[in-house]
Amino acid sequence: MELINYVKDLNTNEELFPAIHKYAMEKRVPIIDSDALNVVKQYIAIKGAKNILEIGTAIGYSALHFASAAEGVHVTTIEKDEASHEIANQNIGASEYSENIKTILADAKEAELGDAQFDFLFIDASKGNNQLFFDKYKEHLTEGALIIVDNIFVRGLIADDNVENKNKRKLRDKVRAFNQAMKDSEYTTSFLNVGDGLLVIY
Ligand SMILES: C[S@@+](CC[C@H](N)C(=O)[O-])C[C@H]1O[C@@H](n2cnc3c(N)ncnc32)[C@H](O)[C@@H]1O
Repeated sequence: MELINYVKDLNTNEELFPAIHKYAMEKRVPIIDSDALNVVKQYIAIKGAKNILEIGTAIGYSALHFASAAEGVHVTTIEKDEASHEIANQNIGASEYSENIKTILADAKEAELGDAQFDFLFIDASKGNNQLFFDKYKEHLTEGALIIVDNIFVRGLIADDNVENKNKRKLRDKVRAFNQAMKDSEYTTSFLNVGDGLLVIY
């Protein structure tokens, strides 16, 4: 057995929302990897986060998991795709967490959240906009909030120096620039080789 698979198995818990997970796999909805999800949920529990902001709802899979991570967790989640937003609403409405999750249909590049404050930010939308999302939503974070960014390896693209496709190269360079900017910033960072790569910013 490969070491990476051994660790992945250890980091993966029993699925709490099997029907939603199955739907995502069948319809190729990009959701967080199971091992990365487990790590994010542990951070939520350790941090004692109560108000989570998620950028990128898709069909509500990660939002439901976050709401289930600990007692009294509230999740606000933003999605720009109307069809995904609708499915998320159905999934959340049918769950025991419907009171804990607020879905917003909006482009997160422009969404207005008023004076809402969050102690945990999960960035999981268009990867080339990580810096924009970070800059925009850090204004909504409480002192000592934790930020986690998913897919910082962009499914291997990040380490490929020979990308021929221009758009992919542009995306790789944007994500590389964001990762480096976070490393060089005043924040403490951890780059975790779990799932498709998690960046933890404190
Ligand atoms: C990787 S999926 C989110 C998966 C979800 N967090 C999960 O793990 O279950 C990314 C989602 O972000 C949405 N998205 C992309 N750009 C966005 C934007 N600018 N504003 C809001 N949502 C966006 C996409 O439509 C897609 O549904």
